[in-house]
Amino acid sequence: MDTNDIMINITDREGVSHEVVAPTDMNMNLMEVVRSYELAPEGTIGICGGMAMCASCQCYVTSDHELPEMGYEEDAMLAEAFNVEENSRLGCQIPITKELDGLAVTLAPES
Ligand code: FES
Repeated sequence: MDTNDIMINITDREGVSHEVVAPTDMNMNLMEVVRSYELAPEGTIGICGGMAMCASCQCYVTSDHELPEMGYEEDAMLAEAFNVEENSRLGCQIPITKELDGLAVTLAPES
């Protein structure tokens, strides 16, 4: 693990929790991290390619990190998505930054 890496705890849709290392210097978002570790089956996450247009990357943020504010597209998509909770975010709209070290999220059920 180098100094540009952070740790993220991701609970998958089966309820299994995974501590993963994510790079802050590769222009990745949270949805891409989930995909790179294959924590959700291919074709069930990241369907729109990270455009805030499918909600397949929805997750619940369970740590108290300060996240970047929701943009209009994310807000609008979550208004239409299923299983949305107070702490729902779209993983593709969350860039991996050093501030997110220790972040904990749970993947929302497939809808
Ligand atoms: S990947 Fe489609 S909304 Fe995030």
